[in-house]
Amino acid sequence: MEKPDNTENKTFETGKKKKGSSTTAENVAFVRALESLKPEGERVCYDPYAVRFLSQQYLMFMEMAARDPSRTPFPGVHNSLSARVRYFDDFVKRSIDEGLHQLVILGAGFDTRAYRIEGLRGNVRVFEVDHPGTQSVKMEKIKDIFGSLPDHVEYVSVDFETEDFGQRLIEYGYERSQKTVFIMEGLIYYLPPKAVEEMLSFIAKNSGIGSAIIFDYVHESSIDRTDGICGVQCKACDQNEIKNATKDMAKQGEPYKFGIKEGMLESFLARQGFSHVCNVTSEDYKKAYFHEVNENRPVCCLSYFAHAVVK
Ligand SMILES: C[S@@+](CC[C@H](N)C(=O)[O-])C[C@H]1O[C@@H](n2cnc3c(N)ncnc32)[C@H](O)[C@@H]1O
Repeated sequence: MEKPDNTENKTFETGKKKKGSSTTAENVAFVRALESLKPEGERVCYDPYAVRFLSQQYLMFMEMAARDPSRTPFPGVHNSLSARVRYFDDFVKRSIDEGLHQLVILGAGFDTRAYRIEGLRGNVRVFEVDHPGTQSVKMEKIKDIFGSLPDHVEYVSVDFETEDFGQRLIEYGYERSQKTVFIMEGLIYYLPPKAVEEMLSFIAKNSGIGSAIIFDYVHESSIDRTDGICGVQCKACDQNEIKNATKDMAKQGEPYKFGIKEGMLESFLARQGFSHVCNVTSEDYKKAYFHEVNENRPVCCLSYFAHAVVK
């Protein structure tokens, strides 16, 4: 099948104008790279490729924080993001063992699971879906790292706010009858509610038996829609730092837009066509991943992970 053109380096046309690749995608790669410098047994997640996605400025921050951990930016957020990467990795590994056919990574940014999780290549078709501005940078980096783009990954460029992502996925060979996991990591709070609902509705209506979603979210009360900043207290995070960081992200074109009402996760997902909902709080992932030398690492209580199965 002839593939649609994926090379055009468009910019975000929605919300505030943003040129080039996503800053938040680089922020998460920075967290993975920094955490990966820790010794095995201490690090919560491991991504040997993340460092390759960092610009000079981020590399400098990484070296500073590696030399002096007290200079890790937003420690609570850093730890929560590291736990998120680990939790989602573990979920994908379990899904592979249970007979996964397709993995769709929505808002993939600089996600490297397709290249580092054993059992994907050769068994599972991976679709990385992101805005063209970020995706073209990602594809160049992948070619730099591995010499070419791997056969088991399809790169689908879409703006979730203005394009029909389901249609694009199908154009790239997504099979609606196959068991699929959809990852939405660090994504849904950047989308308007309508785009989130359309995304979930496509998944619920167009995926095989046993298909699942996994994502992270914040409560609606954390979002201040006037300028997209986070307005709720977290004991682990310096409130001014969080406000300034989210305000900066909003200015750069990536404001928070969507949250789920507290206590309403299950009914929200049931309405969209999902069952077996699992909600993971910061206490849950702290208990699962932060032991011994990591016991005192703070986590940000604003972020939750969730997964569910298509009904
Ligand atoms: C915080 S990053 C997360 C990246 C990756 N999932 C990770 O966890 O490392 C958010 C990603 O969502 C993508 N994104 C945000 N809004 C989008 C939109 N309207 N259309 C397509 N992609 C979008 C950005 O390009 C970026 O790669």
